[in-house]
Amino acid sequence: MSEDAKTKSWRAVALTLFPDMFPGSLGQSLAGRALEDGRWSLETVDIRSFASDKHRTVDDTPSGGGAGMVMRPDIVDLAIQDAKTKNGGGLPLVYLTPRGRPLTQMRVRELAEGPGVMVLCGRYEGVDQRVLDARDAEEISVGDYVLSGGEVAALVLMDACVRLIPGVMGSDTSHTEESFEEGLLEYPHFTRPTEWQGRQVPEVLLSGHHGNIRAWRREQAEAITRERRPDLWQAYAAKRDEK
Ligand code: ADE
Repeated sequence: MSEDAKTKSWRAVALTLFPDMFPGSLGQSLAGRALEDGRWSLETVDIRSFASDKHRTVDDTPSGGGAGMVMRPDIVDLAIQDAKTKNGGGLPLVYLTPRGRPLTQMRVRELAEGPGVMVLCGRYEGVDQRVLDARDAEEISVGDYVLSGGEVAALVLMDACVRLIPGVMGSDTSHTEESFEEGLLEYPHFTRPTEWQGRQVPEVLLSGHHGNIRAWRREQAEAITRERRPDLWQAYAAKRDEK
């Protein structure tokens, strides 16, 4: 890849208390190769390096009382400002939290098409709300469950974006038939052997009749979406009926 292409490649910056958790899974397989090839870049900023006391404290007790600790706004902001200067700014700031708006394929696509993302990873009870408001952080959740910190959620977000960067996945990969791209979950997949432990690959998939295969896959996608994700199904059906 040329130097020019490298400087324009998609950038991920993780602000974290655990920089060793990166690139983690993103150093492997297709994302890892693309990282080596300079199709995207990853930088970590160690939030603790901005603490000024001898214990390198980054958190304090919650105002109003209660369990756990909260990450201090002044320390977190120093990390954000440092990352902004080093990366020339311009990256949207995302804070990962179960309180955030659910991550969607649509938001992933938008982020992947932009210059990159700066991701703030919380630990303990989270980050003081004032720095999130002051720096206009977009609060995103990767699901309705609580992880022990934002790092794994950051890897999820980055993974979903990186695989959409042109050239990262093989050229034979079609994104348009994937789950969510049309508002439906994807149809099931099969390969050889055509019979395995008494279970057959569905007849239609062996027929070579592309029209029938397409229709069968669509039926399967619709049925599975209706059953597993009534929320997606309702939105899909409403959009379809509009047409
Ligand atoms: N941090 C902890 N749990 C999380 C979640 N579900 N989504 C995003 N960030 C988180």
